[in-house]
Amino acid sequence: MPDTTTIESLEALRLEALRELESASGEALEVWRSKYLGRKGRLTQVLRGIVGMPPDERRSFGAAANTLKEVLENAFADRAAAVGPKPADTGLDVTLPGRRPLQGRLHPVTQTVRDIAEALTAMGFQIVEGPEVEHDYYNFTALNIPPDHPARDMWDTLWVDRVDAEGNPRILLRTHTSPMQARVMEKTKPPVRVAVPGRCYRYEATDATHEWHFHQVEGLAVAEGITFAELKGTLYEFARRIFGPERKVRFRCDYFPFVEPGVDMAIDWKGEWLEIMGAGMVHPRVLAGVGYDPEKFTGFAFGMGVERIALLRHGIDDIRHFAANDLRFLSQF
Ligand code: PHE
Repeated sequence: MPDTTTIESLEALRLEALRELESASGEALEVWRSKYLGRKGRLTQVLRGIVGMPPDERRSFGAAANTLKEVLENAFADRAAAVGPKPADTGLDVTLPGRRPLQGRLHPVTQTVRDIAEALTAMGFQIVEGPEVEHDYYNFTALNIPPDHPARDMWDTLWVDRVDAEGNPRILLRTHTSPMQARVMEKTKPPVRVAVPGRCYRYEATDATHEWHFHQVEGLAVAEGITFAELKGTLYEFARRIFGPERKVRFRCDYFPFVEPGVDMAIDWKGEWLEIMGAGMVHPRVLAGVGYDPEKFTGFAFGMGVERIALLRHGIDDIRHFAANDLRFLSQF
């Protein structure tokens, strides 16, 4: 048994205890604690021995022993904090497979807009965008639909609550992307060939194929000598790229005030036809209105409904799903 009553023996005890503690973890930590600091531990015994010491030694030795006790207690607390509780203590099983984080992706309408833009870009159209809050001049008048013309009823319009000097509302949420036809032509000399994706709004009752807000992509091509055959060729090629060569397409006459002749295109849907776009040859009055000579230039325009195209491509039964923000629907795409 080594002498435990000298300052040197305390120093030896300190070194030994700290060395052992350096590598202790888990259960070994508890073993260490009772070995040195426990009721029958080495330091406790040293402290007990103080009682029998001569008084002059007792004071300095006692102080040193108490300091050592503090040092060991602190070292133990540090080590325990550093090594931490054992995994088994917290009930954490690190071998279990982890939970997958939710992964975001593009909305199906955004994906469809991008696919449409890509198809049209490959066919030579340049992508431009325009304002959603429009002047009635661009939404209607410039498109050969003057104020008070009954054709304005074709679009159920959401007007902005502001009137001009005569008390007439002038600002609206655009009902289609067609106002960009005039905006682009006003700023550009022919030839032009642009595609305009964007949001549109209509004040109307919703059902499986109608929403009060939706997306369109407008197309416009104006140059010398453009014919109806080019419109038809462009739209068939577009349908082939988006729906594949097998899908049935219907092309027939329709009326829009800003085209002559006007047509619409429909795609085979559940044994019926679903209209996906209006189109036609740009009306001479629209060309004249933006300062193009209608004797010299001709062109075609089309405007398609993006949600309807997404519906057809994915076999979805109701257009209202797109804006319902339900992850069970959205995570399919
Ligand atoms: N703007 C028309 C609509 O929303 C579609 C259209 C665009 C028709 C271009 C002809 C030419 O109904």
